Amino acid sequence: MRHLTGETAESYVTGGVDVTRWEQFGLADTLPFQAMWYSVPPRSSSPTDRHPELELSVVVDGTAAVEAGGRVTEVAQGSCFLLDSDEPHVIHNRSDTPLRVFTTFWMPRRTAGAAGTAEAAATGPGDAP
Ligand code: NI
Repeated sequence: MRHLTGETAESYVTGGVDVTRWEQFGLADTLPFQAMWYSVPPRSSSPTDRHPELELSVVVDGTAAVEAGGRVTEVAQGSCFLLDSDEPHVIHNRSDTPLRVFTTFWMPRRTAGAAGTAEAAATGPGDAP
């Protein structure tokens, strides 16, 4: 068992969002997905993000107002949201307390018989969640 904690891990701020990426744990060759934690400060929003990977997130602290597909959906602590491949998204924190999210992301499986030779991007989505 490995205890993976964001509290002692390296993080950086990009677009006003504090990001702790899992690359630093050296699991890229082991896991079929990548992961990160991120925090959106009170009364602020992430930059718009869009990438080919699917993105599955768990709200760890606070409430996320997830803007995608022309709608904003409130996702409470403990609930999850799944963003589709190439779906533009913005994560808003409309509260006075920090929003913390754990996210995993991976390239979609190709359907049987699908053409194409694209490989999973090594770096995952952009810096923004
Ligand atoms: Ni994203």
